[in-house]
Amino acid sequence: MQTLRDLPALRSAIDILKSDGKPLVLVPTMGALHDGHMALVEEARRHGRHVVVSIFVNPRQFGEHEDLDAYPRREAKDAQMLSAAGVDILWAPGVEVMYPTGYATTVSVSGISDGLDGAARPGHFDGVATVVTKLFNQVQPDVAIFGEKDYQQLAVIRRFVADLDLDIEIVGMPTQRAEDGLALSSRNAYLTDEERKAALALPRALGEAKRHIERGEPVAGVLAQAIAALAAHGFGPIDYVTLCDAATLEPMQVLDRPARLLGAAKLGKTRLIDNIAVDPA
Ligand code: PAF
Repeated sequence: MQTLRDLPALRSAIDILKSDGKPLVLVPTMGALHDGHMALVEEARRHGRHVVVSIFVNPRQFGEHEDLDAYPRREAKDAQMLSAAGVDILWAPGVEVMYPTGYATTVSVSGISDGLDGAARPGHFDGVATVVTKLFNQVQPDVAIFGEKDYQQLAVIRRFVADLDLDIEIVGMPTQRAEDGLALSSRNAYLTDEERKAALALPRALGEAKRHIERGEPVAGVLAQAIAALAAHGFGPIDYVTLCDAATLEPMQVLDRPARLLGAAKLGKTRLIDNIAVDPA
């Protein structure tokens, strides 16, 4: 595996890789890799012959009071894992390569970016859409793979790929979970032992709410119960627990089409998110 940090080196390595005409797959990450990321890498290997993984902790998607400086960085270990998994290129640009002096352009996706995490983290999805557009232009993949854990992020990416006529297949991979059901996330590393146990209340509350909604119970009451369950386990503030259209993320009061149940809340200092599919009978 080659680890590359500047654009000329990346471009010539990509030209060589692509010269056999086989598909090239990109897995964008911010590093601190766990089994969830490695499932994306495995999926990438199924989709293409060439796999590029990017690691870039993107300052533009962190708010002023968020955890940019504390965000876990473990590039040497990440590189070992990627190399063992058969990745061709680790693309690990510095901030000065991604956003050189004078950088002035933002990709902003209206509507689908506005609610949920977009409301709780203003500017977050502009940062994501901007960096992912740049990664697509830098790596020129045929396929790009993202986890469904960041469900709104995946929907925002699908929107701008369609809107900007990018010829890239976007693949969403089901959330990888620990044995007890907690969604894998680099941010789980921040949880104390006690918080790690309490964190299970999030997937449990979503699972319980899914069952009630699919049984036909009124959505508003079920969501209120889920919020109360989270509060009882020490979560707060709770940004949202909500039922949305699975494609547009419009809020839904009645389960009359495929939906997604999404939740986001703080546990101590750590903000956790999770989501599951909810299907009408
Ligand atoms: O999901 C992530 O890790 C990041 O948001 C992404 C897609 C790599 C963009 O920085």
